Amino acid sequence: MNNFIDNRYPTVNDLRAKARKRIPRFAFDYLEGGCMDELGLQRNREGIEAVQLRSELLKPYSGCNLSVELFGHTYSSPFGIAPIGLQGLMWPNAPEILAAVALKKNIPYVLSTVSSSSLERIAEISEGNAWYQFYNPTDDSIRKDLLRRVDRAGYKVLVVTVDVQTFGYRPRDIKNGLSMPPKMTLRNIMQMLSCPRWLIETAIAGKPEMQTLKPYMPKGMPVDQLAEFMNKTVMGRVDVEGLKPIRDAWQGPLVVKGLINESDVAAAIQIGADAVVMSNHGGRQLDAGESPVEPLQRVSKKYGEQIKIFMDSGLRSGTNIAAALASGADFTFLGRPFVYGLGALGKKGGLHTINCLHKQMEQIMNQLGCESVDQLPHFLVPNKPIN
Ligand SMILES: Cc1cc2nc3c(=O)[nH]c(=O)nc-3n(C[C@H](O)[C@H](O)[C@H](O)COP(=O)(O)O)c2cc1C
Repeated sequence: MNNFIDNRYPTVNDLRAKARKRIPRFAFDYLEGGCMDELGLQRNREGIEAVQLRSELLKPYSGCNLSVELFGHTYSSPFGIAPIGLQGLMWPNAPEILAAVALKKNIPYVLSTVSSSSLERIAEISEGNAWYQFYNPTDDSIRKDLLRRVDRAGYKVLVVTVDVQTFGYRPRDIKNGLSMPPKMTLRNIMQMLSCPRWLIETAIAGKPEMQTLKPYMPKGMPVDQLAEFMNKTVMGRVDVEGLKPIRDAWQGPLVVKGLINESDVAAAIQIGADAVVMSNHGGRQLDAGESPVEPLQRVSKKYGEQIKIFMDSGLRSGTNIAAALASGADFTFLGRPFVYGLGALGKKGGLHTINCLHKQMEQIMNQLGCESVDQLPHFLVPNKPIN
């Protein structure tokens, strides 16, 4: 019955525990960490876990369908792979592995602007099915050139991230002196040596670098100036005025990622966005930030007819995905879980993680008596009145 997965790791928590032993500490900390005291990370988990669902057992039921139609494409599962920068640092060739498996399993893979792989290579592997996550470069010529490359490579959906107004204050990375590529300090070398599989695969794949952005970096730029370059040149603040020219330049579906506030969703609708991702960047930017679940419930009631609403941050299981969809999301994304999968099981880990989440979702739908994803809100137990 369980041959769709490796029986030793039926949950994301199992994958995480294994990944922790196979990824060097500085890289695992980068993946795992949140900002400041990591209270936001905890709040994300508490928010989604508080959602309860109620079965309907005696009505006729003819099985469930997990597919979701988005922007003219029917995806096989109601979840996708969120953009994660420097993915190749956590596991060599992570973008290549995940983009390929997302294509195979017919779910979206979102490539980060600060990816360790070039956008052209991932477009090729994903046969044009990947989505592209865009940070808004402050430099006009870089912005235009990047958008031109994304379009030419054949990406269908542009996801503009707006919640990185500052570089997140992440104590783990500060303590580890995180840089890309990693510095060869004695401590880092010891950590790498303790993860032989990671080390061998990294030696084969080559040291991770920001391939998409490489053409814009000054030649020979010292590693310790990378963060400043990123901050100043690539990750510009995006307000509503900044979104307008992107909307004008991009003909395809436009998703605004990182919203929590109702007024921001209204602004995204105003500029003609096709979807928003209710998200707090996985607790990496504002430690006092809200978990997206409650705002999601409010926003979907108010704006659900006007714009597609997605959610991420803190989802770790089919149960959590079902809870987010029941709270009004049209679709969900997960970030860390797929990288845990790779860390635990190498190349097979992406497929394994997708299979687990899909199987968990199926069991929940069957148990609830819910036939399609858009019916899930009907099964939500309302524990707080939402105005
Ligand atoms: C290590 C790491 C790097 C990330 N890099 C990016 C990025 O480059 N662009 C982006 O829009 N979001 C980025 N995110 C945020 C994710 O896209 C997503 O919002 C978040 O991971 C969801 O929370 P989860 O990991 O709890 O599922 C990153 C998250 C993590 C954990």
